[in-house]
Amino acid sequence: MKNTNLSTQLKERFGHEPNLFIRTYGCQQNVADSERIRGLLESNGCVYCEDADSADIVIFNTCAVRGHAEDRVFGNIGAMKAVKAARPEVIVIMGGCMVQQPHIAQNIKMSYPYVDIIFNTNNISELPGRISEFLGKGKRVLDPACSEYTVNEGIPVVRDLERCRAYLPIMYGCDNFCSYCVVPLVRGRERSRRPEDVVKEFRECVEAGCKDIMLLGQNVNSYGNKSGFGVDFPDLLRMLNDVDGDFVIRFMTSHPKNASKKLFDTIAECGKISRHIHLPVQSGSDRILKLMNRNYTREQYMELIRYARSVIPDVYFTSDIIVGFPGETEDEYLQTCSLIEEANYYATFSFIYSKREGTPAASMPDDTPHSVKAQRLNALNEIQRKVTEKLELGLVGTRQRGICTGILNDGSFECRINNNAEVTVTGSAEVNSFCDITITDYINRRLYGKAE
Ligand code: 5AD
Ligand code: SF4
Repeated sequence: MKNTNLSTQLKERFGHEPNLFIRTYGCQQNVADSERIRGLLESNGCVYCEDADSADIVIFNTCAVRGHAEDRVFGNIGAMKAVKAARPEVIVIMGGCMVQQPHIAQNIKMSYPYVDIIFNTNNISELPGRISEFLGKGKRVLDPACSEYTVNEGIPVVRDLERCRAYLPIMYGCDNFCSYCVVPLVRGRERSRRPEDVVKEFRECVEAGCKDIMLLGQNVNSYGNKSGFGVDFPDLLRMLNDVDGDFVIRFMTSHPKNASKKLFDTIAECGKISRHIHLPVQSGSDRILKLMNRNYTREQYMELIRYARSVIPDVYFTSDIIVGFPGETEDEYLQTCSLIEEANYYATFSFIYSKREGTPAASMPDDTPHSVKAQRLNALNEIQRKVTEKLELGLVGTRQRGICTGILNDGSFECRINNNAEVTVTGSAEVNSFCDITITDYINRRLYGKAE
């Protein structure tokens, strides 16, 4: 992982070990990638800093899932023009999903001359070589391709444990090709880490004191499907549940089409797996689900939820929803609203459909005005708010076990309970330790409790 030239080249350019800053956009997978990018560059002589303005190397780890995310990146990249004018030695690097799109890479090449290097997140280990090439030749290195879309093992990880949660990728890429989604185009085909590598990193997390460990993949339910490991996702969960120590296992994201009864049975039987499942439905209409290429019907989805609740009575579901998919009628939108109530979600993350170049949905007729979509989103969020409120009121009076995630300055602390909710708790606790609490109140959409 160490590039023998690089630390010497960097010292020559800056006269000292360069300060590195990484700005991360988008999902947890990007956060996990940034933790590896940081580890890799620290092992090549960089020193991490928390301040973009004083950094010598600034990396933008970008997201392409919706247009809004891309607009933000372009805004922040634009600000680098002034930084480069004042300190031309600064190195500006872009990686992540956004730069894997040819039209974006071309735009950066033509219109953002102060971006020096583009790298491909699907092979992070090539980054030091790219920086070295840039320093050696003095020319921008902008080809977004990499030698191979791979599973990088052995890269040092510097975890950001500020929120007391460790992210652990178990697989990369996506083969599902939901018709609206750019991820399969930018992250390549699905590939899983070997179970022994996952278990090894998991143990390292536990030994380092992590209490809340989240397994990551675009669709964890197809873990190992193409690999011939003989270990599927429920098997992996069981292996991790058997690791010694006190911790909570979480995972994200579960595609309903691959969620099996075995998964829910495993959760029911394994005490260290969180009773919170993020199971994105995207729409409550069968016609829209078909157009989205989701490969399940509303009834099949609800059957999963019912089965899960029958074996894990205290389970909480959350979901992602897209409002205003091309051609979605008012009635189809209302079907999504009714599904929120039927599924009794604890929370939903809802988005207005964003057209992504190169995806099948981008060429579907879409004549619903944006203002109508925005109204639908607001109304849907209001429905969810009421469902959430009922569930949170139902938590009042219950005893919960959670992890203290931060101390407040008025004799209370923040506690994340099993279903992922944050509670403000009176009493004392140590950050990153388990605590038993009773939930006492629900005021202004916030849960309160006291330590036992
Ligand atoms: N427009 C809006 N939302 C999208 N998502 C993915 N692609 C799009 C898009 N083109 C949402 C989905 C997914 C979440 C991570 O982002 O709901 O589950
Ligand atoms: Fe996108 Fe669907 Fe893959 Fe999720 S499962 S990353 S929504 S294509």
